[in-house]
Amino acid sequence: MSDTLAATKSPASAPARPAGTDEVLVVDFGGQYSQLIARRVRECGVFSELLPADVGAEEIARRAPAGLILSGGPASVYAPDAPALDAALLELGIPVLGICYGMQLLAHSLGGLVERAEVGEFGRSDLHVHHPGRLFAGLPAEQSCWMSHRDTVRHAPAGFSELASSTVSPVAAFEDPARAIYGIQFHPEVVHTPYGQQILTHFLADVCGCDRTWTAASIIDEQIARIRAQVGDGQVICGLSGGIDSSVAALLVHRAVGDQLTCVFVDHGLMRKGEGEQVIAAFRDTFKVPLVAVDAERRFLDRLKGVSDPETKRKLIGAEFIRVFEEEAAKLSGAHYLVQGTLYSDVIESGGRKGSATIKSHHNVGGLPDDIAFELVEPLRMLFKDEVRAVGAELGLPERLVWRQPFPGPGLAIRIIGGEATKERLDLLRDADHILQDEIRKAGLYHELWQSFCVLPDIRSVGVQGDERTYGNVIVIRAVTSDDAMTADWARLPYDLLEQIASRMMGELSDVNRVVLDITSKPPGTIEWE
Ligand code: XMP
Repeated sequence: MSDTLAATKSPASAPARPAGTDEVLVVDFGGQYSQLIARRVRECGVFSELLPADVGAEEIARRAPAGLILSGGPASVYAPDAPALDAALLELGIPVLGICYGMQLLAHSLGGLVERAEVGEFGRSDLHVHHPGRLFAGLPAEQSCWMSHRDTVRHAPAGFSELASSTVSPVAAFEDPARAIYGIQFHPEVVHTPYGQQILTHFLADVCGCDRTWTAASIIDEQIARIRAQVGDGQVICGLSGGIDSSVAALLVHRAVGDQLTCVFVDHGLMRKGEGEQVIAAFRDTFKVPLVAVDAERRFLDRLKGVSDPETKRKLIGAEFIRVFEEEAAKLSGAHYLVQGTLYSDVIESGGRKGSATIKSHHNVGGLPDDIAFELVEPLRMLFKDEVRAVGAELGLPERLVWRQPFPGPGLAIRIIGGEATKERLDLLRDADHILQDEIRKAGLYHELWQSFCVLPDIRSVGVQGDERTYGNVIVIRAVTSDDAMTADWARLPYDLLEQIASRMMGELSDVNRVVLDITSKPPGTIEWE
């Protein structure tokens, strides 16, 4: 490792709430949807962050949020190691909304009765609103909602009004407006609760009195001020991949400090068709960002010679990427800061959420090592993916980059299966992929899919074309829907579209005589083939 990248610098600590905006904190009891609650709050125009269940009243008081939301969680309030509620939280005078386990904790702590129901309530349920209170004001008395619980509140604590019930839950919502404490058994944050967003808005606007001023434009102003304060007149470097995160991070930094930023785009020759040109056109030509574009195709292909094992491919590509980046960084003397497109979901996951059932381990081959001698500039640390897209659009990033499907760091090399990633095979795969994307876009389905791509296995099959026997390549079409890549379903592409794709591939690509469709979900398959 070169001197430039030798020592460790810790990243800038997570910024707190943007100046002048209200904040509602979500106390995370390990629920499946805790992150989603924070996202929905932000969609209402109110800044929100997730804090661990043991955060304590002192820290909350210090942050002085406009409201608190206690999330759901997998525990029962009666379990010996169940996450508890710090009673002092309720003495701060900050409005509180408990959701699912959060509501049960409120009931249990304040003298209500929580019981294990004979049957759990999972999925869609009918909600009967007997008394609208503040949360249901103006909403229908009969509505549906999404439930996921076994314990249930039988009696609200003294001083509370019971607002609603459902088939299984005698008390599905309660309130004590005098103390500004509210509870709902169902999940307002999921789309299956049709009035969920309105119920949350009632809490945020009517109960907490929040100004709803958190928007993409306000994020941009805020981040620009923060970046300027952090960087001063220092030189900044950013590795651009063409993905949404590094693109938006780079644009924000460029807005903040102009030509103090230099972007480095390493074209490893494993990109999709036209992708490198698009990145260069957007950044160098449109946004006038100083950009070093490194054509490293030859280097990467040399490294990949004779390699067919997937993990070896990944490791070689990752190591070579770092080497190229280091070389370029060393040429830019005086760069002290490095931009990274870390998202809020990465921050939450790498912090290790307490009490949650599973934690995703995310891998990013082609990313940079932790021990780099730059101070990190992470302007997306507080943002969710959809907010990053909104900021990208607001900054004028082309639609293709804003909505680009996820693409793995090692690129097309890990889509050539069981064989070496040669230039010839990469070109064939690139052309096949281009046809697939083109047809999927024309059919208006690109945004519906999490990912769509082709795989080229190192096998041949017999065919007949123009009266001649052929022994050609097989192209696999893989298209999936997903929310987070942890699970995925194969996309039901229309037959006519599949036919059009297959006939174009076999007509336009020499040496392809068979096209097949992958109908495997994840699990048991993974999205990529290796
Ligand atoms: P799998 O194949 O594990 O993929 O279902 C889940 C998501 O991760 C992407 N992926 C990668 N991304 N480097 C990356 O940066 C990799 O080595 C890598 N392998 C898979 C994949 O495209 C999907 O979005």
